Parts: sequence; C-alpha cells; structure tokens
Amino acid sequence: MSIRVKLLLSYTGMLVISLLMFFLAASLFTIAATGDIHSFRDFYKVHYQLNPLTEQEESIFLELKYFAKNEPDKLLDKSLLQDYDFKLKTVRAGLYVRRESNQVFESLTFNQPELEKSLPPYDLNNSQIRNTFNIGERFYAYAKFDFLYSDGAKGSVFVIRERSPFSEVTRRLLPILVCLLLGVLIVANVLLYRWITRSVVKPLDRLRHSAENIKEGNLDFALPESSKDEIGQLNEAFENMRRRLQESVQLRLQDEESRKELISNISHDLRTPITNIKGYIEGIRDGVADTPEKMDKYVNIIYAKAVDLDKLVDELFLYSKLDLKQVPFTFEPVDITSFLDDCIDELHYDLEEKGIRLQWEQRPQESVAVIADLEKIKRTVLNIIENAQKFMDKPDKHILVSVMADPKWATVEIKDNGIGIPEEAIPHLFERFYRAEQSRNSSTGGSGLGLSIARQIIEGHGGEIWVKSKQGSGTSLFFSLPRMNQQGGADTYDDAHPHH
Ligand SMILES: Nc1ncnc2c1ncn2[C@@H]1O[C@H](COP(=O)(O)OP(=O)(O)OP(=O)(O)O)[C@@H](O)[C@H]1O
Ligand SMILES: [Mg+2]
Repeated sequence: MSIRVKLLLSYTGMLVISLLMFFLAASLFTIAATGDIHSFRDFYKVHYQLNPLTEQEESIFLELKYFAKNEPDKLLDKSLLQDYDFKLKTVRAGLYVRRESNQVFESLTFNQPELEKSLPPYDLNNSQIRNTFNIGERFYAYAKFDFLYSDGAKGSVFVIRERSPFSEVTRRLLPILVCLLLGVLIVANVLLYRWITRSVVKPLDRLRHSAENIKEGNLDFALPESSKDEIGQLNEAFENMRRRLQESVQLRLQDEESRKELISNISHDLRTPITNIKGYIEGIRDGVADTPEKMDKYVNIIYAKAVDLDKLVDELFLYSKLDLKQVPFTFEPVDITSFLDDCIDELHYDLEEKGIRLQWEQRPQESVAVIADLEKIKRTVLNIIENAQKFMDKPDKHILVSVMADPKWATVEIKDNGIGIPEEAIPHLFERFYRAEQSRNSSTGGSGLGLSIARQIIEGHGGEIWVKSKQGSGTSLFFSLPRMNQQGGADTYDDAHPHH
C-alpha cells in the first residue's frame, strides 16, 4: 500500500471516527441532560402543538371547519370527504370524521386500528384545536373541530398528519447530512492529500530518484532545498551525503591521477642518473678510460651520480613517508634565534668560498621559543638555503635571514638576490617534482622534491610556508612556526597565520 493510499484511508478514518464520536457525544449529552431519548419527542410535541399542519393542510382544514359550522351534514357525504381526503393525501395527511362514537370517515393513509381510541374526546368549546397524540412509537399531530350535526349529534372533523420526529428529521436531514459529510470528506481529503503530496510524497520521490542516480554512479546533481521539517532535514542530510560522496570520488580520482604522475616522475628521475652510470661503466668496460686520470674521472663521475641517486631515493622515501604521515615528529621547545645562529655559523664559511654572504638581516633581541622538531626544521632551512645558492646569478651574492615574532607565531624569512621565480610558477612551487621552467633547462639538477618536503614538515608543525619573489631580483621564502606560550605548550593552530 503506498503512502498516498494510507494517508487517504487514515484521513477518511479520522473524519468518520470523529463524526461518530461527535454524534455519540451529542446523544450522550442529551441523555445526560434530559434523562431519556424521548425528550426529543417532547420538543417536537410542543412544536407541532403550535403548528400541526402545513399551510395547505391548514387551508383544507379551514374549508372543512367552514362546513362544520355552516352545513354540518355535508360532513356525512362520503364522496365529498373522499375528495378532501384525496387532496390531503397529496400532502401526506389524512382526514378523519366521527359522529358520536361512530366513525364516519377514516383516511386509508393511516392504516392504524388504534387511531379511534387515541383521539381526544368531544369538546364543543373547541378550546384546543391543535394538538398531538401518539400511538405506540408513532407520533401524530392534528387539527380538530367539534360541531353538532343538524340532528344534534356531536361530530368531529380531524385533519391528521403523522409526525414522527425521528423519521421526519431523518428523512429531511439525512440526505443533507450525507451530502454534507461526503462533501466534507472529499474536500478535506483532497486538501490534505494535496498538502501531503506536496510536502511529503514529492520530496520523497525526488529523494528516491536521487538515490537511483547515486546507485548508477551519477553524482553530478544537486537536490534543491525543500521545507524545514523532517523531510527537509532528510533532504539536507541526503544532499550532504551526496556532496561528500562526490568529493571523495573526486579526491580518489585526483589521488589516482597524482599517483600515476608520481610513478612516471620517479621512473623518469631515476632513469637519468642510472643511464649516466651505465654509460660511464660501459666506457670503462670498452676501454675508453685508458689512462689512470681518465679512469679516476670516470669513477668520480659514477660516484657522484650514485650519490645523486642515493639522495633522490632518500628524498623520495622521506617525501612518501611524510605524505603518509608515517614520520613521527618529536616536538621540543627550540630557541629559533640561536638555532639560526648555529645554522649560519655552520654554513657561512662554505658559502663564502662560493662568494655568497650568509648573514642575519634582522636578529631578534630576545630569544624566541617555538615548538619544533629540530632535525626536520634544520632539513627545511638547509633545503631553502641550498635553493638560494643554486639559483644565484648576481655577482654580489647574498642570503639574508630574519625572524619576525608575533604573540602566536614566529616567522622565518630567508631572502636571496637570485634569479627569482616567475609569477606563474609560484602557486606550484611546493608541489612535488615541480621545477620552474628556467631551472629545468639549467644544470642545477634537483628533483623538485625539496620544497614539497619542506612544506610537509612545516605543515606537520601546524605552521605555513610561502614564497614571495620577483623574477630577476630575488626570492624570499617564509615559514612560520607556533610560538611556545607561557604554559609551555604550543598554541592552538586555528589562529590565522601571519601572512593572511
Ligand atoms: N631561491 C630560489 N630562487 C629561484 N628559484 C627557486 C628558488 N627556490 C626554489 N626555486 C624554484 O623552485 C623549484 C622547486 O624547488 P625545490 O627545492 O622543490 O626543487 P629543486 O631544488 O629543483 O630540487 P631538490 O630540492 O629536490 O634538489 C626549483 O626547481 C626552482 O625552479
Ligand atoms: Mg631544492
């Protein structure tokens, strides 16, 4: 049974039951108030005592009364009486005439043997012309006139009409009631049905349709928002589910795509040093390296390539472990200023040999404590400095380090005056294997993993890494780390990062 049918049935049932309850309550109330069901009858009795006959009946009665007063003997004339009775019959009433204790005329309409006994006695004053009587359960109203025949015998003429209050009411009101009931039923049902269809069945249909869509793998649709009721909530939940599903499907497709890309990148990057190594070894085998110097050179190249390869595999391994969140971070309080002091001390001699100045630009006076994994931050800094020296083209080369501290974040800037990064490359810089075009062709090598590893590390700290660069004049790399608060813990990371 569909919801529609169920609703239709339940509405009808509700209406019928409530109407029944209403009538039951009404009759119980009457009984309680008046003591018995017949009290209805008393009400009608009074009513019909006042107006026992209809207008037509009344006019016939007046004609008969006229006869009784003026020509009473006419009321013995059967054919005349029959004529009048016939007229009365057409309006459902009957005629009764008596003379002393004999019945002169009784309309066939009544077919009531008890009738005679129930009629009132003579009252020549005609003090009560209109009244009612009942025979058993049947109820009659009449108008009567008592008179004297010409020979002095008492006579009465009655115009009687059966007035069964219940049957009367029923006969007159029932069709109206039934029509009314049916009308109410139909209207109520139609209204409720339309309302429910609109607010329940249609949204459900839409939901079913969407569910079918999803089953067939089509997630590219949007459920329009509907009402605020339970159905609306269901709708919303469904729509959320669909969006989630779509996102996860898209994410999976993207993942798959990037995994394919990763594999092809890896195989490409691995192949280059391996091909080189193979080439030199073949050279040695074929006797191209015929002098000890040449041999030395070849072996050194092979060694260098093997080191490159080792580094690449190492970076790849680290990157994928960071990506899978399999590298544990060991956080500890680190004074970022003295940490950078150490880095500069360690590197600046080497760099000076290459003609590069590495120094503080802006060293904070006080110590700035951050929560960091020392080893990994060092890796990041080395990576950034390595990039800076790799992409250096000016005669006066320098790398400047600054620390800026706000209450929540410490931001490190490493600035060089190198070749800079083209604007269109900046958004991709931290993607794995990404190398800006000019470095791709140059001899700087590199796999393009350095900055993506740096990003994984900084994000693992809850910090952020970003770049500002002007092509031709230099690059600034920034990263932020959460500062340690007074309680000794790191602040929560949901605060805005400094560069936003
Ligand atoms: N300081 C910089 N100046 C100019 N370009 C830079 C600088 N730092 C990075 N880049 C550009 O960003 C690219 C990505 O850098 P990243 O460190 O990720 O890779 P890489 O240095 O090429 O390789 P790897 O670090 O794995 O040896 C570089 O190839 C280079 O084009
Ligand atoms: Mg690098």
